[in-house]
Amino acid sequence: MTTNMTAATTDAAPIAILGAGNVGAALARNLRALGADVHFGVPDPAAHRDLAEHLGARVGSVAEAVAAADRVVLAVPYAAALEIAAAIDDWRGRILIDATNPLAPGLSGLSIGTTTSAAEQIAARARNARVVKCFNVTGAENMADPGALDGPVFMPVAGDDADARADVLALATRLGFDAVDAGPLRAARFTEAFAMTWIHLAFAAGQGRAWAFSRAQRRA
Ligand SMILES: NC(=O)c1ccc[n+]([C@@H]2O[C@H](COP(=O)([O-])OP(=O)(O)OC[C@H]3O[C@@H](n4cnc5c(N)ncnc54)[C@H](OP(=O)(O)O)[C@@H]3O)[C@@H](O)[C@H]2O)c1
Repeated sequence: MTTNMTAATTDAAPIAILGAGNVGAALARNLRALGADVHFGVPDPAAHRDLAEHLGARVGSVAEAVAAADRVVLAVPYAAALEIAAAIDDWRGRILIDATNPLAPGLSGLSIGTTTSAAEQIAARARNARVVKCFNVTGAENMADPGALDGPVFMPVAGDDADARADVLALATRLGFDAVDAGPLRAARFTEAFAMTWIHLAFAAGQGRAWAFSRAQRRA
């Protein structure tokens, strides 16, 4: 869309959300409340027309959504994210916000980690994208309206491009998260494992989904 992708993006600027499932719909709801121009990119746009209309968003193919925006959110399964990252010839400096977790079947764990991350694997395939890891450490319900919880919703943000990381940090803050600068993209190795902690507690440990992690600060 824009040729100067290093320019600051505003809340009203178009943002593409690839995937219109739990995470895509929740983030779209929050972004629309902020006044963002949301474009869903999905394999079958007709299947998501009602959702898009309900949210006041647009819906089209992945290529159409990416072409419309300087910020693109990956809200798809990890395997699909790898394919999408590689399928675009040139991301032209777009900020690619990776909300995926590389989940093993049955939410039994992560399929990769420790020495790499979903975010780094996506970055390795997405030519000229500025990949930022965010929106992966809490349940989708908490992403629609973090203010509905009785404490701040912790959200680490990691990325190698300082401007892109700062942009997503500021966006996540405006969306109502306690967004924290986690430094370079390799920190996604830890934030993806942290997401698995939430998933384990929510499902295997029986805590349910209606909670999020918060930070506590030592008193001076
Ligand atoms: N659910 C959570 O609470 C949560 C929290 C944090 C992070 N995550 C991560 O976020 C990602 C999405 O999770 P989700 O729960 O939202 O999944 P979901 O409800 O299954 O939605 C996935 C979406 O991705 C779309 N999709 C699949 N392949 C695609 C492709 N090649 N191109 C474009 N769109 C494609 C699907 O399209 P169709 O609708 O046509 O099938 C669907 O809309 C996952 O990586 C997950 O690990 C999830």
